[in-house]
Amino acid sequence: MSRADTTLTPYLPGAPFFAYRDGELWAEGVRVADLAHEHGTPLFVYSRTAMLAALGAYQRGLAGRDALVCYAMKANSNLAILEVFARAGCGFDIVSGGELERALRAGAAPERIVFSGVGKTRAEMRRALQVGIGCFNVESRAELDVLDAVARELGARAPVSVRVNPDVDAQTHPYISTGLKDNKFGIAHDEALDAYRHAASLPGLRVVGIDCHIGSQITSTGPYLDALERVLDLVEAIEAEGIALHHLDLGGGLGIEYHGEQPPAADALWQALLARLDARGHGQRRLLLEPGRSLVGNAGICITEVLYTKPGPVKNFLIVDAAMNDLPRPAMYDAYHAIAPVRPRTEPPQVWDVVGPVCESGDWLGRERALAVQAGDWLAVGSAGAYCMSMASHYNSRGKAAEVLVSGDRAQLIRARESINDLWRQERGLALD
Ligand code: LLP
Repeated sequence: MSRADTTLTPYLPGAPFFAYRDGELWAEGVRVADLAHEHGTPLFVYSRTAMLAALGAYQRGLAGRDALVCYAMKANSNLAILEVFARAGCGFDIVSGGELERALRAGAAPERIVFSGVGKTRAEMRRALQVGIGCFNVESRAELDVLDAVARELGARAPVSVRVNPDVDAQTHPYISTGLKDNKFGIAHDEALDAYRHAASLPGLRVVGIDCHIGSQITSTGPYLDALERVLDLVEAIEAEGIALHHLDLGGGLGIEYHGEQPPAADALWQALLARLDARGHGQRRLLLEPGRSLVGNAGICITEVLYTKPGPVKNFLIVDAAMNDLPRPAMYDAYHAIAPVRPRTEPPQVWDVVGPVCESGDWLGRERALAVQAGDWLAVGSAGAYCMSMASHYNSRGKAAEVLVSGDRAQLIRARESINDLWRQERGLALD
């Protein structure tokens, strides 16, 4: 590639799995334009090799330890993606009965599933007990009591961890920070010991571990180390009372690069955490982790077509065919996603706000982006593998986008584009007079 080409190369996280070659964007060994042509837009394109590489960093960091990576499938729960992680030996972190069924359908071993979330219903608990999941991460005293009752009705003992809220600032967006005292998640650090005494006294429960998760898109090691210290203090206090904890679940939360962030690599993070665990004499303890975003976020892009260019006196708008229903993160969290042309043009760029067709001013994908584009061009929205499709909606009666998984030079449709029939299948016409 010439020097001139290099300077023109647009910014898109996800290299080398998403990269420019011969003047256009490739997903591994497949031309992104060919996929857009074949499947239409908006289209999510995922790289299996990128997912396995991200998982590999965790596996390297944890090599030689008794550890299980439970993919937090809320980040992206497409069945084929779950199969990728199940086949690679992952367990799953689930937060609903629906996610449980998805994990089972994808071939997950039930004992490798952990069930998080503040509002598990009795029916969800029953089903999870019947299939034999590995652990319930319990988030309140009231939930301990309900789970105990449900388990006893079934003649079972529910394996539990208490999710402890360590009151640590994850230094991330307030909506995705979960480990502070004023969050709805977990049992406060000060109350955790008492919750464990209570759990140990209930005949329908079997205490197996301790759990904490402090937030998402964490880009430094400090908050993890702080949380670990606080959790280990508790582990020691709980075990001093004769309640054995077989595993330590440190949750998920590791951030990714959206726009120049430099989060620690998973192996580096784990080196630091393991050093601290070893220093405090807990190095042999079984570890569970629940990463979501860091396994899939930069393993996906969303391809969208420019419908109209709309230059204006104050702002120039690029109206594209993807919208907040496909990519809700900008509207919800003011999030930045890189936007880059699939086939870069050589003309000088202009500055655009990239917006979707939904009837909301909040329907924007990127603000003030320098792009050389014309109507009909395809753009790639970066870092779209996590919390995009899994948070997509039907707002404005827009069917959900199609999804394709690439592996080497092969591509497979893993979700067909929704039709209007898919959208109104559960609705009934008016039958009242
Ligand atoms: N474990 C628990 C208990 C969680 O609540 C979460 C995420 C995870 C694991 C996975 O965290 P991750 O490794 O993906 O950071 N929709 C937001 C993110 C919400 C995260 C919720 N909990 C976003 O788009 O940024």
